[in-house]
Amino acid sequence: MVKVTGLEGVVAADTEIGLVDGEQGHLIYRGFWAKDLAVSRSFEEVAYLLWFRKLPGEEELRTFTQKWRSLRALPVSIRSVLELLPASVPMMSILQTALAAMSDDDLVWPPTTEQAMRLTAVVPTLIAARYRLLNGLPVVEPDENLDHAANYLHMLFGRTPDPAHVKALNAYLILGMEHGMNASTFAGRVVASTQSDLASSLSAAVGAMKGPLHGGAPSEVLVMLDAIGEKANAEPWLRGVLEKGGRLMGFGHRIYKTKDPRAEALRQVTEGLVSDDPWFELAIHVEAVAQRLLEEYKPGRRLYTNVEFFAAAIMRAIALPAELFTPTFTLARSVGWSAHLLEQAPVNRIFRPLSQYTGPMPEEG
Ligand code: CMC
Repeated sequence: MVKVTGLEGVVAADTEIGLVDGEQGHLIYRGFWAKDLAVSRSFEEVAYLLWFRKLPGEEELRTFTQKWRSLRALPVSIRSVLELLPASVPMMSILQTALAAMSDDDLVWPPTTEQAMRLTAVVPTLIAARYRLLNGLPVVEPDENLDHAANYLHMLFGRTPDPAHVKALNAYLILGMEHGMNASTFAGRVVASTQSDLASSLSAAVGAMKGPLHGGAPSEVLVMLDAIGEKANAEPWLRGVLEKGGRLMGFGHRIYKTKDPRAEALRQVTEGLVSDDPWFELAIHVEAVAQRLLEEYKPGRRLYTNVEFFAAAIMRAIALPAELFTPTFTLARSVGWSAHLLEQAPVNRIFRPLSQYTGPMPEEG
């Protein structure tokens, strides 16, 4: 009997939203290179592309942006949820809970673009408000004059954000928006396939995103680099992990068997942001050593740098605290998730795969 794990190679749905070509290292959103969109478009423009299947014209963008920005404020009940949950509850669990609690009579199946706009608009506000409450700081209300990336930094830090940080964050968010049938998108699609509401589907997707093998990796990359500390320690430290059969965070991917194109694009964005930064130089050194050691310890597995490695670098460069790395990835991906759920609804069929029974059979008679 062949052991079945991880649904590798299984096609679970048709999609026009994104193409992830793991052999060639390509990432395409609705016919556009994601790496080009990341440096030439706003998060709002790419959200429009994912939801409405085309880039917006000037007037379309203005109307869309105005509406999306007007939906950022937290309902009072959700703000209370943020205040009531103890400090020990991780941010991703807060997001799961708050999104699930947004479920109401207006959010019933099938999902609509209006519902998607409403739910995704509050994700940055949720993160920023909880972050400030935990740190004993007054909550900063969303600013309708700022775009998605700038407003997020404004709500987190309570000051006008550095334009270079906004540009870098905008690029990161765009590269994080969509990635085919990854674990969290699949989780959201499975829940939506039961005709459950959009809030419940997004909440489930957040739960999948939280794990260190998926969206939880970037803060682990930071932990790894901090533990290594200096270039001379890189080889013994990385070897130590691999000798024990451990995993190097920020490396390897189920689909990419070449360099993750998002990693390359983010490296360029980070290079444009930092100069003579010893930490970034250490990161580049660690990447090269890790690459060499992975070829030595895991020959033929084709393990390369993934998005999380440089996601960590970029988020550190814009001074985001490590506990916000995965939530920030989530605020971007929530747009991609909802695009998938909108796409699935008209052709929906409940996901109901099989399992292979490997247990004992009852005794005869
Ligand atoms: N470090 C060391 N060895 C690794 C790594 C790694 N990062 N990734 C895979 N391997 C090895 C693994 O031990 C296995 O070796 P062997 O054949 O000797 O048993 C082989 O490569 C295949 O691993 P796998 O677990 O079957 O691969 P997968 O496709 O199931 O896992 C992955 C993909 C991303 C979970 C995995 O590469 C990993 O754990 N990476 C580290 C965590 C990480 O950086 N996650 C972020 C992924 S990118 C964000 C996203 O798109 O979700």
